[in-house]
Amino acid sequence: MMSPALRVGLLGCGTVGSAVLRLLGEQREDITRRAGFQVDVTRVAVRDPHRDRGIALDPSVITDDPNVVVKDPDVDVVCEMIGGVEPARSLILVALDAGKPVVTANKELLATMGRDLFHRAESSGVDLAFEAAVGGAIPLVRPLKESLAGDRVRRLMGIVNGTTNFILTRMSQDGLSFDEALESARSLGYAEADPSADVDGHDAAAKCAILASIAFNSRVVASDVYREGIGSVNQTDIAYAAGLGYVIKPLAIAELEDQDVAARVHPAMIPADHPLAAVNGAFNAVFVESDHAGELMFFGQGAGGDPTATAVVGDVIRVGRNLVLGGRAVGCTCYLGRRIRPMDDMEGAYYVLLDVRDRPGVLAQVAGVFGRNDVSIKSVWQEGTGEEAQLVLITHRAREGALQTTVRELAELSPVSGVRSVLRVEGSE
Ligand SMILES: NC(=O)c1ccc[n+]([C@@H]2O[C@H](COP(=O)([O-])OP(=O)(O)OC[C@H]3O[C@@H](n4cnc5c(N)ncnc54)[C@H](OP(=O)(O)O)[C@@H]3O)[C@@H](O)[C@H]2O)c1
Repeated sequence: MMSPALRVGLLGCGTVGSAVLRLLGEQREDITRRAGFQVDVTRVAVRDPHRDRGIALDPSVITDDPNVVVKDPDVDVVCEMIGGVEPARSLILVALDAGKPVVTANKELLATMGRDLFHRAESSGVDLAFEAAVGGAIPLVRPLKESLAGDRVRRLMGIVNGTTNFILTRMSQDGLSFDEALESARSLGYAEADPSADVDGHDAAAKCAILASIAFNSRVVASDVYREGIGSVNQTDIAYAAGLGYVIKPLAIAELEDQDVAARVHPAMIPADHPLAAVNGAFNAVFVESDHAGELMFFGQGAGGDPTATAVVGDVIRVGRNLVLGGRAVGCTCYLGRRIRPMDDMEGAYYVLLDVRDRPGVLAQVAGVFGRNDVSIKSVWQEGTGEEAQLVLITHRAREGALQTTVRELAELSPVSGVRSVLRVEGSE
């Protein structure tokens, strides 16, 4: 039986968990009136119970044993904000098996073990809500799962990692090098001491997998997502992109190609007038293309304690209402088993920057390599002369595999002293 108040157990009280506690405190009255019940945090598990968290918290609710929280009969809903795979996974399973709905912000866990978790939620007949796992404050999961349930999404293209968007924005707008921009992100708290999860695309790949699973009703895990980091983007690429009317953005793209799912994260050039080109700094946005709704864009703060807490609290209220009134939110919607299209079979346009020795016939030789591999050149021009010339090429849509063969052959060509950059061009064809 539910008590008059919804009793919430928090697993973790770090950046997100402490913001959830603050928000529940600050908005207490409004939440009670909107939800129809009071929300009380009755248990909080942390690693170090003695750490000062800057929030008033009754010491008797704090424990360093998260199992106490999930098993406590005075906890109706469990909020998992520990992060990582274990012990988060085991704790969520214990809660679900005990018939307690779970709210989680854990993209890493969902993008690797989502199938098991949803299966357990299904068999226990309780909600597993995860709006905060992708896009922080931006409502994405519910719009895709519920608002667009009658539509058919064809493609998602988004900026789902604020750290890399911040770095590329500073490189583009302020002329910083990659290292300088990363340092600036660190000093503002946007980047971790070890930034690899962001810079190498792991965080974006997990979010891309979750969004693709929801959009295309088929399980996509993080390792299905092709991944390239932003570490190789440099000022030369940014300048050429600007000259061509493009900006370079850290993109996550999930699309249906002949009923297969294709999912990838990598930096790419997009037209300067594309809606995503205006998404700067640490902001996130996801651009959705669907058959009936057409084009939609979701924009906002994709991380940070306070923004993310709003998504967590929204989920707590929703699963709480389901507990009180009966019923459940839409559960797992991965009812298809779509093939994951290998990256080599994907199609796109490319920007290729070559260092060449400016000699008669070089352009013909370079064009010959593209032609032999069935990659059609849309535009080409040369910068500089002599031994240090550069050729900038933009292709029409081509198969990734064909483009990669082209690049390998170009690197072997005698007048080509180096393939300096290859970037995908999105959003224009
Ligand atoms: N931060 C963001 O902007 C953001 C945005 C969207 C989603 N998320 C997701 O939200 C989750 C939490 O992120 P966060 O940034 O809040 O992490 P965090 O600041 O590192 O907080 C983690 C919390 O979990 C506690 N904890 C860790 N291991 C524990 C264990 N074995 N038993 C009990 N408590 C344990 C820690 O305790 P101590 O405090 O004692 O160390 C801390 O309170 C992650 O899944 C993350 O991906 C974060």
